[in-house]
Amino acid sequence: MAMILEAKGLSYAYPGGVTALSGLDLGVQRGKRLAILGPNGAGKTTLLQHLNGTLKPSAGTVHLDGTIMGHGRTELAAWRRRVGLVLQEPDDQLFAPTVFEDVSFGPLNLGLSEAEARQRVIEALNSLRIADLAERPTHMLSFGQKKRAAIAGAVAMRPDVLLLDEPTAGLDQFGAVHLLAVLEKLQAGGATLVFTTHDVDLAWAWADDIALFDAGQVARQGRPEEVLADAEALSRARLKPPFLLELGLKARQRGWLGADQPLPRNRSDAMALLDGI
Ligand SMILES: Nc1ncnc2c1ncn2[C@@H]1O[C@H](COP(=O)(O)OP(=O)(O)OP(=O)(O)O)[C@@H](O)[C@H]1O
Ligand SMILES: [Mg+2]
Repeated sequence: MAMILEAKGLSYAYPGGVTALSGLDLGVQRGKRLAILGPNGAGKTTLLQHLNGTLKPSAGTVHLDGTIMGHGRTELAAWRRRVGLVLQEPDDQLFAPTVFEDVSFGPLNLGLSEAEARQRVIEALNSLRIADLAERPTHMLSFGQKKRAAIAGAVAMRPDVLLLDEPTAGLDQFGAVHLLAVLEKLQAGGATLVFTTHDVDLAWAWADDIALFDAGQVARQGRPEEVLADAEALSRARLKPPFLLELGLKARQRGWLGADQPLPRNRSDAMALLDGI
């Protein structure tokens, strides 16, 4: 499988000495959705900041399309054009006076004309359903509205890879479902998605590939069926296996689901399974 982005042997300690990453390897498959799971303080946010060049590792390399990425000014600009990052805290991301200006910043910086940039901003605001907030000062928004504005800013850049740090945390249920639909649309246009989450059920329902953190490294990376069924590795990450995965395995055990039939990944799969019993 072709990797669009790879981290090889990444190590990083914050000033003051906290080691956040120690010899971490990770591969991001082109066009897929990768979920990164791990306990608080495991290094997930630190990793995402390395994947778009915000932080520079003390050892190791990041590869984009097989090329080692450098941290010089021009290289960084090209890197960030292709790899977008939505921060965990929208307050750390939003900086312009209004939502419209904030979302415009990236597209204008790409060198697009004002009309083209405007078009992209309107599209992004509409797709995140915050067009009505366009003229609102960014500090006068609720947390979830800020989060959507921050995501709109990244979407308007049309990146090849979008890194999202806990994108659904703090969104209401419909907001979260809607966000996933927006991301799916982006992916259908060719984008690769990488997101961190503490929500194993979301990872199970939605990810193609899972990376599990342990002690500044990716302890396991692989298909959801393999990684999310590993109760021991999950428990080290302070997580339990997804409910529908457990339910599906139990259904197989009881013979209600054939060994070759897919496990239920969402509510409607689970209902169909029950209907078939
Ligand atoms: N700005 C900073 N200065 C010093 N240490 C930091 C800083 N940011 C994070 N750390 C430390 O680096 C380690 C990794 O933190 P990081 O934020 O990457 O974890 P995380 O997996 O994203 O956690 P969470 O699930 O809480 O978001 C932790 O030990 C944390 O205390
Ligand atoms: Mg974090």
